[in-house]
Amino acid sequence: MLDFSVMKDSEKRLVLLVDEVVYRLYPSLFEGETCLRITASEQEKNWSTVAKLIDQLLAMEVDRNTFLLGVGGGVTTDLCGFVASIYKRGISFGFVPTTLLAMVDASIGGKNGINWGLCKNEVGLIRMPEQILLDLDFLRTLPVKEFYSGVAELLKVFLLADRDSYAVAMDLFKRVPDPSVLLDGTDRQRFEELVQEAIRIKERIVGQDTYEAGPRRLLNFGHTLGHALELILEEEGLGCTHGQAVAWGMVQMVRWSVRRVGLAQTTAMQLVSDFRSVGLPVDWQDLGLDMPALLRVKKKMASVLCQDKKREGDALHMVLLKEMGIPVVLRIPLTEVEELLDRL
Ligand SMILES: NC(=O)c1ccc[n+]([C@@H]2O[C@H](COP(=O)([O-])OP(=O)(O)OC[C@H]3O[C@@H](n4cnc5c(N)ncnc54)[C@H](O)[C@@H]3O)[C@@H](O)[C@H]2O)c1
Repeated sequence: MLDFSVMKDSEKRLVLLVDEVVYRLYPSLFEGETCLRITASEQEKNWSTVAKLIDQLLAMEVDRNTFLLGVGGGVTTDLCGFVASIYKRGISFGFVPTTLLAMVDASIGGKNGINWGLCKNEVGLIRMPEQILLDLDFLRTLPVKEFYSGVAELLKVFLLADRDSYAVAMDLFKRVPDPSVLLDGTDRQRFEELVQEAIRIKERIVGQDTYEAGPRRLLNFGHTLGHALELILEEEGLGCTHGQAVAWGMVQMVRWSVRRVGLAQTTAMQLVSDFRSVGLPVDWQDLGLDMPALLRVKKKMASVLCQDKKREGDALHMVLLKEMGIPVVLRIPLTEVEELLDRL
């Protein structure tokens, strides 16, 4: 049983910000704790949720001597870090990530924020959590689709920086498709090592460039197209997980890398086949769009990309792969981005 109190110093009051689903799945964990609950979804990751949470904190007379602990997936940790950073000009905060995606990605690196209309994570700030507590056993209750959403982010860091771990991860996920089998079986240790390695890589990159002026941009691999896709599909009422959208975005970047930076065709084909074999979307068809929806999504994509926060003047920074483990950030003119969209 987790003891949340180890996460704060004894002087501080502990307030938990908990994903409603996690709260219902693990009721005994929250007995006797002061909890605020949220519905974890992209639609709720917005300003009105932040305002509601701040009203609740004020009503509870929460002062600066408080530790706000986010317990949930990436939506919860992003909201927790943001609210904690602006409430009374900033209180301490930490995370207990409960999705694979939040464990290997969202809880690390201090990016906290919310969506603004069709722009993902458009409003936010960078401030590090004081503590992160990892407990892989939360993954037992995670839906398989959400598990593979996290697998996509795990694969991303290995594609960028550790081709050996990529090969180990692919072997594991192709062989053991069910997360609870992974947690109970002989592969658990290997899985734990992969999670720790992914965390180490992200921490290393963030440590070199906290404010994303250089190497941290690499972590956006697949995200420019992926973010746009994620929010457009949600607006269309179709939806896909964050990791599915990022996986689709990475695959398009891999294909484009062949033409743009000379990635070997055989490598690109292998990567696409790998992603497909673990059930991650690689083509429009995998996203379940009919033809009218597909045309609408493609049309919206160009305008969403123009509002991307990574846009600088008439160009976007995009990450391509020269080889596995050798990424490159290019400043791509918007006219060329439009050409890319035409080819999708
Ligand atoms: N700050 C960052 O650096 C960063 C990095 C990557 C992603 N993100 C953000 O993270 C979000 C995606 O995170 P996510 O995939 O964790 O989404 P999420 O928080 O929406 O969680 C996904 C789903 O899993 C449920 N869930 C959570 N834990 C569970 C558990 N243990 N058992 C059963 N169900 C559980 C949630 O209720 C939700 O329905 C996006 O908003 C993305 O922008 C942030």
